Amino acid sequence: MNNITVIGSGTMGNGIAHVFAQNGYKVSLVDINQAALDKALATISRNMDRQVAKGSLSEEDKNTALSKIKTFTSLKAGIEHADLVIEAATENLQIKLDLFKQLDELSKDEAILATNTSSISITKIAAATTRPDKVIGMHFMNPVPVMKLVEVIRGYATSDEVTAKIMDLSKKLDKIPVEVNDYPGFVANRILMPMINEAIYTLYESVAGVEEIDTVMKLGMAHPMGPLQLADFIGLDVCLSILRVLHEGFGNPKYAPCPLLVNMVEAGFKGVKTGEGFYKYTPGVKEFTVSPQFTK
Ligand code: CAA
Repeated sequence: MNNITVIGSGTMGNGIAHVFAQNGYKVSLVDINQAALDKALATISRNMDRQVAKGSLSEEDKNTALSKIKTFTSLKAGIEHADLVIEAATENLQIKLDLFKQLDELSKDEAILATNTSSISITKIAAATTRPDKVIGMHFMNPVPVMKLVEVIRGYATSDEVTAKIMDLSKKLDKIPVEVNDYPGFVANRILMPMINEAIYTLYESVAGVEEIDTVMKLGMAHPMGPLQLADFIGLDVCLSILRVLHEGFGNPKYAPCPLLVNMVEAGFKGVKTGEGFYKYTPGVKEFTVSPQFTK
């Protein structure tokens, strides 16, 4: 596998393109508009600069990696040579089903179709194609260039051969793949999201404040970020939609999203991307403070 197409140039898509290009693969990055693609290239370049500044990447290797990324606004042109397509588009079931139907029609017969979904059923996505044996989950973690894990999710019909190829490819990216089966939330989010939801309930029930909850988990459990800060970083809308997948998929009330999370998403307080969630953020500034909503 040498030609990799990444669909969607947001945070996850540009991180995935970054890692493949840095490891010598030819990357076609596809999005619906050129402005999003230009922004993604600028982000990749900035993130590679961090690695150059640390000495983990040379300026020359950075330029070689950037030259391996080509951008496309046409899906057909972007995937015609792909050996592997990785979809990192919006986390919406209908969008993914429509997209995979098109990917199936437009890509080479032998191409593997992967999705970076954080919780949508791989089996359901695979059923929208004529090649369910070649559809697989390849779930990278944010920030993709930093985080070592790739959760490799086998759909009901994914073949052993395709799974082995994706496990092997992930190792070539200097990542550590873990193979899991396709049930709601897979492993990562089945465990992470109830923890985040419980942290939100702890705040909602006034057991402690935002900083106190995060400090307990950072200092007590050695987590790099507290659960409320992590929820802001992931996106509160994303957390809510994953909890809904768990709640619906298992039919168990223990996964019911905290009403505070629902209210925050409905009010547009979605975390870092909207400037405010449990904390308030200023673009370009590393420091942040507890949202005024929680200091009253
Ligand atoms: N590209 C390249 N390098 C990056 C980067 C990026 N996008 N983001 C951060 N880095 C590098 C920095 O240059 C820095 O490198 P050094 O330590 O070698 O100098 C290092 O990563 C740490 O970055 P910072 O100093 O800026 O900040 P930090 O120490 O606070 O670390 C963090 C930032 C890595 C994000 C850390 O806070 C962390 O690990 N947080 C938890 C992340 C996490 O849990 N991710 C999973 C989210 S869940 C998910 O993704 C899946 C899902 O389905 C919801």
